[in-house]
Amino acid sequence: MTNVPLAGIKACVFDAYGTLFDFAAAARGCRDALGAEADKLTGLWRDKQLQYTWLRSLAGRYVDFWQVTGDALDFALETLGIDRPGLRDRLMTLYLTLETFPEVPDVLRRLKQSGMRTAILSNGSPKMLYAIVTGNNLSALIDAVLSVDEVGVYKTDPKVYQLTVDRLGVPARSIAFQSSNAWDAYAASAFGMRVVWCNRYGQRRERLPGAPDCEVGSLAELPALVGVA
Ligand code: LAC
Repeated sequence: MTNVPLAGIKACVFDAYGTLFDFAAAARGCRDALGAEADKLTGLWRDKQLQYTWLRSLAGRYVDFWQVTGDALDFALETLGIDRPGLRDRLMTLYLTLETFPEVPDVLRRLKQSGMRTAILSNGSPKMLYAIVTGNNLSALIDAVLSVDEVGVYKTDPKVYQLTVDRLGVPARSIAFQSSNAWDAYAASAFGMRVVWCNRYGQRRERLPGAPDCEVGSLAELPALVGVA
């Protein structure tokens, strides 16, 4: 994909898990107990977590992301036959202290300094998002932290993306949305936002409505794409 800079962007909105924050850090932090299973657990846990968001949304049975994340972890641990005292609690607690990907603080600082508005739009519950934003000292760099909890349904329901437009008071076409989750990037594009797909995980393109405007390997490339020096 040839990345053409996006003109007229007034706000940069970010997905949280996998885009700003490294969810693999939770299992990595328990490598002493998980050993070689850490990566397998991360993959299974994440896949199941996302599936539960979609299945619960389809069925109209929302519970918050903390519950979904715990349910998915239980499923993944049982699948791998891992049953160690205290491990579940350790993993869940680590989910509240996930670190950012290395380039994130500097990118947010540059965007803010240029007068760009910044926000997070995430499946995460308000408590989970508060914990990782404050834990990483990002409060001053992010204008709004928006959780799907407000609309009681998960991505990719259009109500979720609409939340950004309503709360920021900026039209969808003036928002650059960044996600490492291809399905999230495509849905935001189909909704009408401009999208920078941060393809950290080397995913293939989706066969779904939408077409991300740009594809990057890390968020370090974002400022230039939205006209920030
Ligand atoms: C989020 C998940 C999709 O933060 O990464 O919304």
